[in-house]
Amino acid sequence: MNVKNHKEALKEDIFSIISGAAAELDMDSYVIGGFVRDYLLNRDIPKDIDIVAIGSGIELARKVSEKLQKKPKVQVFKNFGTAMLRWKDLEVEFVGARKESYRSDSRKPVVENGTLKDDQDRRDFTINALAFSLQKENFGDLLDPFDGVGDLKQKLIRTPLDPDITYSDDPLRMLRAIRFASQLHFKIFPESLEAISRNKDRIKIISKERVVDELNKILGSDKPSTGLSLLFRTGLLHIILPELTRLQGIEEKEGQKHKDNFWHTLEVVDNISEHTDDLWLRWAALLHDIGKAPTKRFDKKVGWTFHGHEFVGSKMVYKLFKRLRMPLNEKMKFVQKMVLMSSRPIVLAQDIVTDSAVRRLVFDAGDHVDDLMTLCEADITTKNPKKFRKYHHNFKIVRQKIVEVEERDHIRNFQPPVSGEDIMKTFNLSPSREIGIIKDAIKEAILEGDIPNEYEAARDFMLKKGKELGLEPGKG
Ligand code: CTP
Repeated sequence: MNVKNHKEALKEDIFSIISGAAAELDMDSYVIGGFVRDYLLNRDIPKDIDIVAIGSGIELARKVSEKLQKKPKVQVFKNFGTAMLRWKDLEVEFVGARKESYRSDSRKPVVENGTLKDDQDRRDFTINALAFSLQKENFGDLLDPFDGVGDLKQKLIRTPLDPDITYSDDPLRMLRAIRFASQLHFKIFPESLEAISRNKDRIKIISKERVVDELNKILGSDKPSTGLSLLFRTGLLHIILPELTRLQGIEEKEGQKHKDNFWHTLEVVDNISEHTDDLWLRWAALLHDIGKAPTKRFDKKVGWTFHGHEFVGSKMVYKLFKRLRMPLNEKMKFVQKMVLMSSRPIVLAQDIVTDSAVRRLVFDAGDHVDDLMTLCEADITTKNPKKFRKYHHNFKIVRQKIVEVEERDHIRNFQPPVSGEDIMKTFNLSPSREIGIIKDAIKEAILEGDIPNEYEAARDFMLKKGKELGLEPGKG
C-alpha cells in the first residue's frame, strides 16, 4: 500500500511529546478526525485536536501533562473514558480506541477496548476517520482504511459502515452529515441520504442543545440553503422546525396563487448571508415569515392575505426558542423585533419615501435599523427585474434618508427634549393623564416633522398643547 506521509502537519511539539509519552506507556497513538480532515483540505487547522490511544486515553493524557511545561490540568470524563487538556491555544482530547455498540434509546455507547481500525469503523464519516500515526517509526503516515482521501477529492460525505448502523448508533450524525455538506460544499452519498430519511425520527433522542449547535453551523455556512434544503428533503426539518416546513407549498384559489414562502425564506437566508455573518440576523431571516402559515386567508376581493403575520411570527419566535432551549435573552428579543418589523421598510419602499415615515422607522428600530434594512433588502426575491430594481433603488433612498434624518433629528435612542418632570413643573401638576397626553403629542410632532427635536421648540409646543387642555403655566 502506498502510504502518504504528512510529517509537516505535525510540526507543533505537542505531537512529538504525545508520541514520546505513548512510547513510554507502550501504547500506539494517532491524531484523528477534524484536524486531519481540515489539514488535507487546506482549511484553517482546528484548535481542537483529537488523539486516539490504543489503550487508556486517560492514562496517556496524564503522561502527556507530566511532560509538558507547567503540567496543564487534565480534565477527565470518566463516563466517556476520555480526557482533555489545554496547551497553548489548543484543546487536546484523548480517547482510547473503542469498539462500540449503542443502545437504541440513547447516544451513550457501551464501550469495549479495540484497535485503531475498530475505532475508525465507529466514526461518523470516511473523511473524519482519517488518522496520522504518532509512532516514531512511521510518524506522520496517513491511515485511511475507507478511502477518505478519495471522498475528500470527490467532495463526498460517506459513512465507513452501512449508513443505517452509523446513523442509528448516533443520530446526531444525520445533522452532522448535512452540516458538513453545507459547510464544505460536499454531496451526501445517495445511500447515506436515504438512510437519513429512514432514520430521521431517531433525531428525537438528541438533546436540543446539540441540534441547535448543528443548526447554527448550517446557518453559519456560506449558502445555508444547501443544508436547509437537505434537512427538508430528508424530513428532519419537519421534526426540528415545523414552523418553517408549514410555509412550504403554493395554494391556488379562483386563479390566484401565493408564493411558496418556504423556498422564498431559503432564498432570503442565502441573500442575507452574503451581507452578514451575524448568526442572529440570519436566524431572523430564517424566521421572518413563520407567522404566514397561521395567518393565511383567502379573500374573494383581495386574494391571499397574511394579516398580522409579523406580530404572530414574533410571538412564535419565543415559543420556538423556548422549545429548542435557545437563549431567551436579548438575542431572542432582537430576532423578535426583526420579525415584527420585517415588513415596515418594504411598505415604505413601495411608496414615496417621506421624512416622517423614515423618522418613525428609526424611532421604532433604534440601533437595529441597519440590520432591519439588511433583512429587508435580502427579502427582495422577486424575479421581475423591473420590480427588483425599483425596490432596491427605493431602499437606497431609505438608507440615505436614514442618515440625513439621523444627522438632523437624532431620533435613534430618542429621548424627549421635554421630560415628564418638565411638564409637571411647568403646569404645577401631580402625576396625571395630561402629562402622558402632552408627552405623546410632543413625540408625535417631532416624528411628523412639525417641530425639530430641540428643547425650545418642544417647550413652545408643550405650552400650546397645555393651553388646549385648559392648563396654564404655574397653575394646576
Ligand atoms: N465523531 C463521530 N461522531 C460524532 C461526533 C464526532 O464519529 N457524532 C468523531 C469524528 O471522527 C470527528 C471526531 O469525532 O472527526 C471529532 O468530533 P468533533 O470535534 O465534534 O468534530 P470535528 O470533526 O472535529 O469537526 P467540527 O469541529 O467542525 O465539529
